[in-house]
Amino acid sequence: MSRRADETGGAPDGAAGGRPPERNPGPPAGTGEPTEAAVLAETRDLVGVARINRPEARNALSPDVMEMLAQLVEAWDADPAVSCIVIAGGDEFFAAGADIGELRDRAFHDTLVAPSARFWPRVAACRTPIVAAVSGYALGGGCELALLCDLIVASRTAEFGQPEIMLGIIPGGGGTQRLARTVGKQRAMEIVLTGRRITADEAYGLGLVNRVTEPGEWLDEAVDVAQVIARRAPIAARLAKQAVLAAFETGLSAGLDQERRLFELAMATEDRVEGTTAFLEKRRPEFRGR
Ligand code: COA
Repeated sequence: MSRRADETGGAPDGAAGGRPPERNPGPPAGTGEPTEAAVLAETRDLVGVARINRPEARNALSPDVMEMLAQLVEAWDADPAVSCIVIAGGDEFFAAGADIGELRDRAFHDTLVAPSARFWPRVAACRTPIVAAVSGYALGGGCELALLCDLIVASRTAEFGQPEIMLGIIPGGGGTQRLARTVGKQRAMEIVLTGRRITADEAYGLGLVNRVTEPGEWLDEAVDVAQVIARRAPIAARLAKQAVLAAFETGLSAGLDQERRLFELAMATEDRVEGTTAFLEKRRPEFRGR
Protein backbone atom coordinates (compact mmCIF):
# COMPACT_ATOMS: atom_id res chain seq x y z
CA MET A 1 0.00 0.00 0.00
CA SER A 2 1.16 3.50 -0.72
CA ARG A 3 2.02 5.44 2.40
CA ARG A 4 -0.39 8.11 1.19
CA ALA A 5 -3.26 5.68 1.57
CA ASP A 6 -2.68 5.67 5.33
CA GLU A 7 -3.24 9.38 5.75
CA THR A 8 -6.88 8.77 6.59
CA GLY A 9 -5.86 6.22 9.18
CA GLY A 10 -6.62 3.30 6.92
CA ALA A 11 -4.13 0.85 8.42
CA PRO A 12 -5.65 -2.51 9.21
CA ASP A 13 -6.36 -3.25 12.84
CA GLY A 14 -3.32 -4.21 14.83
CA ALA A 15 -0.98 -3.04 12.09
CA ALA A 16 1.00 -0.76 14.33
CA GLY A 17 3.81 -3.25 14.61
CA GLY A 18 4.91 -5.41 17.50
CA ARG A 19 1.80 -4.77 19.52
CA PRO A 20 0.30 -7.38 21.82
CA PRO A 21 -3.26 -8.41 21.05
CA GLU A 22 -6.15 -6.38 22.37
CA ARG A 23 -6.73 -6.74 26.05
CA ASN A 24 -8.48 -5.01 28.86
CA PRO A 25 -6.50 -2.69 31.13
CA GLY A 26 -7.48 -4.17 34.46
CA PRO A 27 -8.98 -2.60 37.53
CA PRO A 28 -11.27 -1.07 38.42
CA ALA A 29 -13.68 -1.79 35.55
CA GLY A 30 -11.46 -3.27 32.94
CA THR A 31 -11.28 -6.95 33.74
CA GLY A 32 -12.96 -8.94 31.01
CA GLU A 33 -15.88 -7.60 29.01
CA PRO A 34 -17.64 -4.38 30.07
CA THR A 35 -19.65 -4.77 33.24
CA GLU A 36 -22.37 -2.61 34.71
CA ALA A 37 -19.94 -0.54 36.70
CA ALA A 38 -20.20 3.24 37.01
CA VAL A 39 -17.49 3.43 34.38
CA LEU A 40 -17.36 0.79 31.66
CA ALA A 41 -14.03 -0.08 30.08
CA GLU A 42 -13.04 -1.84 26.91
CA THR A 43 -10.20 -1.67 24.42
CA ARG A 44 -10.68 -1.39 20.68
CA ASP A 45 -7.49 -1.85 18.67
CA LEU A 46 -4.98 0.27 20.59
CA VAL A 47 -7.71 2.51 22.01
CA GLY A 48 -8.98 2.37 25.58
CA VAL A 49 -12.63 3.39 25.78
CA ALA A 50 -14.03 4.50 29.15
CA ARG A 51 -17.79 5.13 29.32
CA ILE A 52 -19.41 6.87 32.26
CA ASN A 53 -22.42 4.73 33.07
CA ARG A 54 -24.65 6.25 35.72
CA PRO A 55 -27.80 6.98 33.69
CA GLU A 56 -29.91 7.01 36.87
CA ALA A 57 -27.75 9.94 38.09
CA ARG A 58 -27.41 11.68 34.71
CA ASN A 59 -23.79 10.52 34.67
CA ALA A 60 -23.01 12.83 37.56
CA LEU A 61 -19.27 12.85 38.28
CA SER A 62 -19.31 11.40 41.77
CA PRO A 63 -15.99 10.75 43.56
CA ASP A 64 -16.41 7.07 42.65
CA VAL A 65 -16.71 7.89 38.95
CA MET A 66 -13.73 10.22 39.02
CA GLU A 67 -11.64 7.69 40.93
CA MET A 68 -12.52 4.94 38.43
CA LEU A 69 -11.69 7.24 35.52
CA ALA A 70 -8.38 8.19 37.13
CA GLN A 71 -7.46 4.55 37.74
CA LEU A 72 -8.42 3.51 34.22
CA VAL A 73 -6.54 6.36 32.59
CA GLU A 74 -3.44 5.64 34.67
CA ALA A 75 -3.61 1.92 33.83
CA TRP A 76 -3.94 2.64 30.10
CA ASP A 77 -1.24 5.30 30.25
CA ALA A 78 1.15 2.60 31.50
CA ASP A 79 -0.04 0.01 28.96
CA PRO A 80 1.95 -0.24 25.70
CA ALA A 81 -1.09 -1.85 24.07
CA VAL A 82 -3.06 1.41 24.47
CA SER A 83 -1.94 4.44 22.46
CA CYS A 84 -5.03 6.64 22.69
CA ILE A 85 -7.96 6.91 25.09
CA VAL A 86 -11.62 7.83 24.57
CA ILE A 87 -13.75 9.12 27.44
CA ALA A 88 -17.45 8.92 26.65
CA GLY A 89 -20.85 9.03 28.31
CA GLY A 90 -24.22 7.92 27.02
CA ASP A 91 -26.54 9.16 24.28
CA GLU A 92 -28.41 11.63 26.50
CA PHE A 93 -25.74 12.57 28.99
CA PHE A 94 -22.01 12.87 28.69
CA ALA A 95 -22.19 14.08 32.28
CA ALA A 96 -24.59 16.55 33.93
CA GLY A 97 -21.94 17.71 36.37
CA ALA A 98 -21.78 17.28 40.10
CA ASP A 99 -24.70 15.93 42.11
CA ILE A 100 -26.62 19.07 43.04
CA GLY A 101 -28.25 17.42 46.03
CA GLU A 102 -24.85 16.53 47.39
CA LEU A 103 -23.61 20.09 46.71
CA ARG A 104 -26.56 21.55 48.60
CA ASP A 105 -25.93 19.40 51.66
CA ARG A 106 -22.14 19.58 51.71
CA ALA A 107 -20.55 21.47 54.61
CA PHE A 108 -17.72 23.91 53.94
CA HIS A 109 -15.12 21.77 55.72
CA ASP A 110 -16.16 18.78 53.56
CA THR A 111 -15.46 20.85 50.44
CA LEU A 112 -11.92 21.46 51.64
CA VAL A 113 -11.22 17.73 51.84
CA ALA A 114 -13.47 16.59 48.97
CA PRO A 115 -11.81 13.49 47.49
CA SER A 116 -12.84 14.22 43.90
CA ALA A 117 -10.41 17.16 43.76
CA ARG A 118 -7.56 14.64 43.90
CA PHE A 119 -8.77 12.70 40.87
CA TRP A 120 -8.91 15.52 38.29
CA PRO A 121 -5.12 16.12 38.29
CA ARG A 122 -4.57 12.38 37.88
CA VAL A 123 -6.62 12.35 34.65
CA ALA A 124 -4.96 15.58 33.50
CA ALA A 125 -1.51 14.03 34.07
CA CYS A 126 -2.17 11.33 31.46
CA ARG A 127 0.53 11.43 28.77
CA THR A 128 -1.50 9.42 26.29
CA PRO A 129 -3.79 11.54 24.06
CA ILE A 130 -7.44 11.54 25.19
CA VAL A 131 -10.47 12.10 22.95
CA ALA A 132 -13.79 13.10 24.55
CA ALA A 133 -16.86 11.58 22.87
CA VAL A 134 -19.79 13.80 23.82
CA SER A 135 -23.48 13.19 23.22
CA GLY A 136 -26.26 14.96 25.10
CA TYR A 137 -25.47 17.19 28.05
CA ALA A 138 -21.92 18.06 29.04
CA LEU A 139 -22.63 20.48 31.86
CA GLY A 140 -20.56 21.74 34.75
CA GLY A 141 -18.00 19.06 35.56
CA GLY A 142 -19.07 17.24 32.39
CA CYS A 143 -18.00 20.22 30.28
CA GLU A 144 -14.82 20.50 32.34
CA LEU A 145 -14.02 16.82 31.80
CA ALA A 146 -14.46 17.24 28.03
CA LEU A 147 -12.22 20.32 28.13
CA LEU A 148 -9.57 18.36 29.99
CA CYS A 149 -9.40 15.93 27.05
CA ASP A 150 -7.18 16.72 24.06
CA LEU A 151 -9.85 16.57 21.34
CA ILE A 152 -13.65 16.63 21.47
CA VAL A 153 -15.94 14.75 19.09
CA ALA A 154 -19.57 15.73 19.65
CA SER A 155 -22.93 14.53 18.49
CA ARG A 156 -25.12 17.20 16.94
CA THR A 157 -27.33 16.70 20.04
CA ALA A 158 -24.58 17.68 22.45
CA GLU A 159 -24.98 20.73 24.67
CA PHE A 160 -22.12 22.25 26.62
CA GLY A 161 -22.30 24.68 29.51
CA GLN A 162 -21.01 25.87 32.85
CA PRO A 163 -24.29 26.46 34.73
CA GLU A 164 -22.67 26.71 38.18
CA ILE A 165 -23.44 30.43 38.39
CA MET A 166 -27.13 29.56 38.47
CA LEU A 167 -26.51 27.47 41.57
CA GLY A 168 -24.60 30.22 43.35
CA ILE A 169 -21.17 28.68 42.77
CA ILE A 170 -18.48 28.69 40.07
CA PRO A 171 -16.75 25.92 38.07
CA GLY A 172 -14.24 24.03 40.19
CA GLY A 173 -12.85 21.40 37.84
CA GLY A 174 -10.76 23.62 35.61
CA GLY A 175 -13.65 25.16 33.64
CA THR A 176 -12.75 28.81 33.98
CA GLN A 177 -9.12 28.18 33.02
CA ARG A 178 -9.44 25.67 30.20
CA LEU A 179 -12.50 27.36 28.70
CA ALA A 180 -10.77 30.77 28.62
CA ARG A 181 -7.70 29.21 27.02
CA THR A 182 -9.84 27.37 24.47
CA VAL A 183 -12.43 29.95 23.39
CA GLY A 184 -10.91 33.23 24.65
CA LYS A 185 -11.78 35.51 27.54
CA GLN A 186 -14.93 37.20 26.25
CA ARG A 187 -16.65 34.00 25.19
CA ALA A 188 -15.61 32.18 28.36
CA MET A 189 -16.98 35.08 30.40
CA GLU A 190 -20.34 34.83 28.69
CA ILE A 191 -20.59 31.09 29.17
CA VAL A 192 -19.46 31.21 32.82
CA LEU A 193 -21.35 34.38 33.83
CA THR A 194 -24.68 33.62 32.14
CA GLY A 195 -24.64 29.84 32.57
CA ARG A 196 -26.33 29.46 29.19
CA ARG A 197 -25.88 26.23 27.28
CA ILE A 198 -24.31 26.13 23.83
CA THR A 199 -25.08 23.66 21.07
CA ALA A 200 -22.55 21.38 19.39
CA ASP A 201 -22.58 23.57 16.28
CA GLU A 202 -21.94 26.69 18.34
CA ALA A 203 -19.19 24.87 20.22
CA TYR A 204 -17.65 23.91 16.89
CA GLY A 205 -17.74 27.53 15.78
CA LEU A 206 -15.99 28.54 19.00
CA GLY A 207 -13.22 26.00 18.47
CA LEU A 208 -14.32 24.01 21.52
CA VAL A 209 -15.19 20.93 19.47
CA ASN A 210 -13.14 19.24 16.74
CA ARG A 211 -15.94 17.41 14.94
CA VAL A 212 -19.73 17.31 15.01
CA THR A 213 -21.40 14.04 13.99
CA GLU A 214 -24.92 12.90 13.33
CA PRO A 215 -26.66 11.39 16.38
CA GLY A 216 -25.65 7.76 16.78
CA GLU A 217 -22.25 8.24 15.13
CA TRP A 218 -20.43 10.14 17.85
CA LEU A 219 -18.77 7.21 19.62
CA ASP A 220 -17.62 5.41 16.45
CA GLU A 221 -16.30 8.69 15.07
CA ALA A 222 -14.39 9.39 18.30
CA VAL A 223 -12.91 5.89 18.28
CA ASP A 224 -11.97 6.32 14.60
CA VAL A 225 -10.13 9.55 15.39
CA ALA A 226 -8.47 7.87 18.37
CA GLN A 227 -7.37 4.95 16.22
CA VAL A 228 -5.77 7.28 13.70
CA ILE A 229 -3.79 8.86 16.55
CA ALA A 230 -3.03 5.44 18.04
CA ARG A 231 -1.40 4.29 14.80
CA ARG A 232 1.06 7.15 14.86
CA ALA A 233 4.39 6.80 16.67
CA PRO A 234 3.25 6.52 20.30
CA ILE A 235 6.22 8.20 21.93
CA ALA A 236 6.04 11.07 19.44
CA ALA A 237 2.31 11.41 20.13
CA ARG A 238 2.98 11.76 23.85
CA LEU A 239 5.76 14.27 23.27
CA ALA A 240 3.55 16.23 20.88
CA LYS A 241 0.75 16.33 23.47
CA GLN A 242 3.20 17.57 26.08
CA ALA A 243 4.54 20.20 23.70
CA VAL A 244 1.11 21.56 22.76
CA LEU A 245 0.01 21.66 26.41
CA ALA A 246 3.20 23.60 27.21
CA ALA A 247 1.76 26.44 25.12
CA PHE A 248 -0.83 26.95 27.86
CA GLU A 249 1.66 26.86 30.70
CA THR A 250 4.56 29.04 29.56
CA GLY A 251 5.56 32.13 27.62
CA LEU A 252 6.62 31.76 23.98
CA SER A 253 10.38 31.55 24.55
CA ALA A 254 10.08 28.94 27.28
CA GLY A 255 7.53 27.04 25.20
CA LEU A 256 9.78 27.03 22.15
CA ASP A 257 12.66 25.85 24.32
CA GLN A 258 10.54 23.04 25.71
CA GLU A 259 9.41 22.08 22.21
CA ARG A 260 13.05 21.89 21.14
CA ARG A 261 13.91 19.53 24.03
CA LEU A 262 10.91 17.34 23.22
CA PHE A 263 11.87 17.34 19.52
CA GLU A 264 15.35 16.17 20.49
CA LEU A 265 13.81 13.36 22.53
CA ALA A 266 11.69 12.33 19.53
CA MET A 267 14.85 12.29 17.41
CA ALA A 268 16.35 9.76 19.84
CA THR A 269 13.62 7.16 19.23
CA GLU A 270 13.76 4.06 17.05
CA ASP A 271 10.40 5.18 15.71
CA ARG A 272 12.11 8.21 14.16
CA VAL A 273 14.40 5.87 12.19
CA GLU A 274 11.44 3.68 11.22
CA GLY A 275 9.19 6.59 10.24
CA THR A 276 11.74 8.35 8.07
CA THR A 277 12.97 5.08 6.51
CA ALA A 278 9.42 3.96 5.73
CA PHE A 279 8.74 7.30 4.04
CA LEU A 280 11.80 6.96 1.84
CA GLU A 281 10.96 3.32 1.05
CA LYS A 282 7.35 4.32 0.23
CA ARG A 283 5.85 1.89 2.73
CA ARG A 284 3.75 2.17 5.85
CA PRO A 285 5.82 2.61 9.04
CA GLU A 286 5.68 -0.02 11.75
CA PHE A 287 6.07 1.97 14.94
CA ARG A 288 7.08 0.08 18.05
CA GLY A 289 6.92 2.78 20.68
CA ARG A 290 10.67 2.78 21.24
N1 COA B 1 -27.53 16.66 40.05
C1 COA B 1 -28.57 16.06 40.60
N2 COA B 1 -29.72 15.81 39.95
C2 COA B 1 -29.81 16.20 38.68
C3 COA B 1 -28.74 16.83 38.03
C4 COA B 1 -27.55 17.06 38.77
N3 COA B 1 -26.47 17.65 38.23
N4 COA B 1 -29.11 17.09 36.78
C5 COA B 1 -30.36 16.63 36.65
N5 COA B 1 -30.79 16.09 37.80
C6 COA B 1 -32.08 15.50 38.08
C7 COA B 1 -33.23 16.47 38.23
O1 COA B 1 -33.32 16.95 39.55
C8 COA B 1 -34.42 15.60 37.87
O2 COA B 1 -34.69 14.76 38.97
P1 COA B 1 -36.14 14.12 39.18
O3 COA B 1 -36.37 13.21 38.01
O4 COA B 1 -36.02 13.40 40.47
O5 COA B 1 -37.10 15.27 39.20
C9 COA B 1 -33.85 14.73 36.77
O6 COA B 1 -32.43 14.74 36.93
C10 COA B 1 -34.16 15.21 35.40
O7 COA B 1 -33.81 16.57 35.32
P2 COA B 1 -34.73 17.60 34.53
O8 COA B 1 -34.19 18.94 34.79
O9 COA B 1 -36.17 17.37 34.84
O10 COA B 1 -34.46 17.08 33.04
P3 COA B 1 -34.35 17.95 31.71
O11 COA B 1 -34.20 16.96 30.61
O12 COA B 1 -35.45 18.95 31.64
O13 COA B 1 -32.97 18.78 31.83
C11 COA B 1 -30.66 19.07 32.36
C12 COA B 1 -31.75 18.08 31.89
C13 COA B 1 -29.36 18.28 32.50
C14 COA B 1 -30.49 20.16 31.31
C15 COA B 1 -31.10 19.71 33.68
O14 COA B 1 -31.47 18.67 34.57
C16 COA B 1 -30.02 20.51 34.34
O15 COA B 1 -29.81 21.67 33.97
N6 COA B 1 -29.32 19.94 35.32
C17 COA B 1 -28.36 20.67 36.12
C18 COA B 1 -27.01 20.66 35.44
C19 COA B 1 -26.04 21.45 36.27
O16 COA B 1 -26.32 22.52 36.77
N7 COA B 1 -24.83 20.90 36.39
C20 COA B 1 -23.75 21.52 37.11
C21 COA B 1 -23.75 21.08 38.51
S1 COA B 1 -22.40 21.85 39.39
